[in-house]
Amino acid sequence: MAKFPVTLSRFIIEQQTAYPEATGEFSVLLTQIGLVGKLIAHDLRRAGLIDVLGTTGETNVQGEVVKRLDMIANDTFLRVFEHSGLVCVLASEEMEKPIQLPQHWPKGKYMLLFDPLDGSSNTDVNMPLGAIFSILKHDGRGRLPAEAELFRKGTEQVAAGYLLFGSSTMLVFSVGQRVHGFTLDPSIGEYLLSHENIRIPKKGKVYAANEGNYHRWLPGTQKYVDALKVNDKAAGRPYSARYSGCLVADVHRILLGGGIYLYPGEIDKPEGKLRLLYEANPMAMVVEHAGGKASTGTERILDLEPKALHQRVPLIIGSAEDVEQAEASIQGRA
Ligand code: AHG
Ligand code: MN
Ligand code: MN
Repeated sequence: MAKFPVTLSRFIIEQQTAYPEATGEFSVLLTQIGLVGKLIAHDLRRAGLIDVLGTTGETNVQGEVVKRLDMIANDTFLRVFEHSGLVCVLASEEMEKPIQLPQHWPKGKYMLLFDPLDGSSNTDVNMPLGAIFSILKHDGRGRLPAEAELFRKGTEQVAAGYLLFGSSTMLVFSVGQRVHGFTLDPSIGEYLLSHENIRIPKKGKVYAANEGNYHRWLPGTQKYVDALKVNDKAAGRPYSARYSGCLVADVHRILLGGGIYLYPGEIDKPEGKLRLLYEANPMAMVVEHAGGKASTGTERILDLEPKALHQRVPLIIGSAEDVEQAEASIQGRA
């Protein structure tokens, strides 16, 4: 008889039994992230048929054009979590300030930070998209956290992960020290364990970067990427370039197959593009727990002390040896 698949709910229940002190709230929270994924995937599958493409005509706090799907995805997170009793605050790329839940609403001990739709330049062209989440714990027993209480180092995340809307919908997350991937089976509406205990190869053969920015990069970054184009002795060929414009999709490829993703600091923009709290930190937690590394080029991402909600940070992430080589070149040691 075929093995019965492990559903997300069964997996979560089994994990919870291993921690008898757990209240179960955390498990429900992960299930609700799964629900967010189903709802967003439902809209994305019909994009082009229903009226969800294009822009809202507005720009967000980061000065970026807001796509209609950015708003739809943000609202989906809010609708699922506002009345859930699981969280006390919600913060997102698309909202200037975190949402403090009204005093009389049920509140939980978790703080949820998210990028509701990652890779939004891909919305209108049927390319992969993602969503990224970071979960922190608040100790205030019902007290609403101030904005600055969200500024925690990445090492303090209790869980983090992403949803990937590609040819299938996946939920990949890390709780504890392991990373697992679940794939949504649309015929039964369940996430099934498809990638158990993901381990990233020590070194890869793929790099992902927006090389249109090459002439803005620092010389150490340029030198590192130049070197990837020379025949690798072991592989007998240069690295392959693979860049989709969606951090989640690009890092997912690297998580499974090895390699390196770079969105580095630039001469006139040393802080880079990606946001620390809801892009770099959660992706760094996933990749580190799978055996990889994440760095600004000079510092470990997860050790950075955040100073602002929408703070940007250079991100170099992937296989341990590849990230170490990039760091050495950026720091002028290679
Ligand atoms: P977002 O859509 O959430 O603003 O994130 C876009 C990010 C990331 O997904 C991607 O890797 C990068 O920005 C793409 O930037 P470029 O268009 O500059 O390459
Ligand atoms: Mn993003
Ligand atoms: Mn986004």
